[in-house]
Amino acid sequence: TWTMVNIVDEAVHDIQAKIGGKRVVCALSGGVDSAVAGALVQRAVGNQLTCVFVDGGLLRKGEAEQVERDFVAAMGVELVVVDAVDQFLDALKGVEDPEQKRKIIGREFIRTFEQAAREIVEKAGADGEAVEFLVQGTLYPDVVESGGGEGAAVIKSHHNVGGLPDDLQFALVEPLRWLFKDEVRRVGEQLGLPPEMVWRHPFPGPGLAIRIVGEVNRDNLDILREADAIAREEVTAAGLDSEIWQFPVVLLAGVRSVGVQGDGRTYGHPIVLRPVTSEDAMTADWGRLPYDLLERISTRITNEVRQINRVVVDVTSKPPGTIEWE
Ligand code: XMP
Repeated sequence: TWTMVNIVDEAVHDIQAKIGGKRVVCALSGGVDSAVAGALVQRAVGNQLTCVFVDGGLLRKGEAEQVERDFVAAMGVELVVVDAVDQFLDALKGVEDPEQKRKIIGREFIRTFEQAAREIVEKAGADGEAVEFLVQGTLYPDVVESGGGEGAAVIKSHHNVGGLPDDLQFALVEPLRWLFKDEVRRVGEQLGLPPEMVWRHPFPGPGLAIRIVGEVNRDNLDILREADAIAREEVTAAGLDSEIWQFPVVLLAGVRSVGVQGDGRTYGHPIVLRPVTSEDAMTADWGRLPYDLLERISTRITNEVRQINRVVVDVTSKPPGTIEWE
């Protein structure tokens, strides 16, 4: 029978056959797919694997730390963390167009990752080994969408890069290319990844950058991170994480409205709550969160995040709306 143990054993066997004694690099995004792909390769070839986490400053509260702490603790894997926050934010300065944001983030990610991989090569070179393989968390639906077949797979970058530069000479290892998302999660559990990592909601590669309508800068990111953390905390406390597919929280940085907070008139920004239910993100419905939960989120955000004086709920399905606002 086709059990999780079989799937893991078979994947481990394939990876070992492919990689042999060479070195392999895996870019962790903080998401489920790259974590499970990395964990499988780790199970197969142990310390021949080096993971790279590029911190562009666009993750949610606590997530960068979670990658560093929990993934390493669970897997005992060698991890190189690159702090590229200044570089990413410099490149995003003044940019408001969503596609432009994606391009910039993809470019900066590749640039940083390449540099890190080069350093790993140099270091390994000293021990007489070369880095040869790059792990990608490509799933079966990505393979199908791109026309199937070995070699035909689009490189599914967690930053929607659409491809790596030609001069980055890595062969790809895609241990998840026969799996669907629910199977990936079960493999992750089987490998001992922490449940918080395995059951995370999908999160876009460009991260919070596409949840700020307006400029991505430190102030806006801080505001959004706080509001988002409150929304997540309350949904979790209400026990509703598994009832929703995703819950984007969006900062309308370019919009201001008048409010009254404490003793005075304020002129702050609105925050949009966008909980959705979905099977596959192709279509979605707006999530019917209980009113008392919405009230708690709204009260806490307007109390705890000074710059926010209004909380609104997005009740648009997809189509016509998309899940994200950008
Ligand atoms: P939309 O907003 O198009 O999103 O309804 C559908 C799904 O894709 C995610 N998404 C992205 N994921 N890079 C990603 O890796 C992106 O640029 C990107 N844009 C949207 C979104 O979170 C949802 O799960």
